[in-house]
Amino acid sequence: MFFKLINTLQNNIFLTLFVGHSLVKLNEVDSTNTYLKNLLSNSKPLIEGTVIMADYQTAGRGQKNNIWESEKGANLTFSILLRPSFLAINQQFQLNKAISLGISDVLKEILGESSKIKWPNDIYFKDKKIGGILIENTIKGNFLKESIVGIGLNVNQKEFGLHVNRATSLSKILHQDYDLNKLLSQLCSSIESRYLQLKSGKNQLLDKNYLDRLFRLNESHQYEIKSKNFKGIIRGVTSTGRLNIQLSDGGQMFLDLKEVKFIFD
Ligand code: BTN
Repeated sequence: MFFKLINTLQNNIFLTLFVGHSLVKLNEVDSTNTYLKNLLSNSKPLIEGTVIMADYQTAGRGQKNNIWESEKGANLTFSILLRPSFLAINQQFQLNKAISLGISDVLKEILGESSKIKWPNDIYFKDKKIGGILIENTIKGNFLKESIVGIGLNVNQKEFGLHVNRATSLSKILHQDYDLNKLLSQLCSSIESRYLQLKSGKNQLLDKNYLDRLFRLNESHQYEIKSKNFKGIIRGVTSTGRLNIQLSDGGQMFLDLKEVKFIFD
């Protein structure tokens, strides 16, 4: 497949140690995650922290085989290459936490406390989605090898299709556009900081911060669990990334992504 390349640069603009130093900007691609995956399998040496970003994705991918739609040139859609070979497979949700926190740190600075992390990897403002994360890992033995961290963030898009429920963007919230390059640079540096915390074993700090930012923590809401509706309270997330919901009869459930749906009033 042929992709139009805007530029590829050794980037010295970002105030980071490695994330974004190699930056490839494409004006159109199927999916930045797929593009990065293909680059890796072409056995070209790629430095950790390489970022692939696109103005437009023709086949952007989301969680649970969903499509990620994003208006051309309005938003951020990018993927970062990381090599978290220090993480065992059963600790992989920690990477998820670090990335969610990196994004959340920036949004908290711009939007304040109403920006939250919706388990497992959505970024919300109040009860609307502003961004999503799709992490795809390769594995070596019991450890992770490479992670392709795909991030989609609604920045300057004003209208969302009728089929897109509860979506918002920075510009809809702020009533003014936000500079995409500035935001990318802010995100790269805060994701890098959180990733370095993870690498240096600061798991307690990451766990605490993740819980503090967790959407609906300790609040009573409706959930669809294994096709039935329940009232429950999110009490936390286990080390393997299962959502802990306390039901009204006092029972606890530990659920994976496919087993639970958030119901909105
Ligand atoms: C989700 O909310 O379901 C995750 C969405 C992740 C979208 C990003 S956009 C950049 C990267 N490339 C993709 O194809 N998907 C991710």
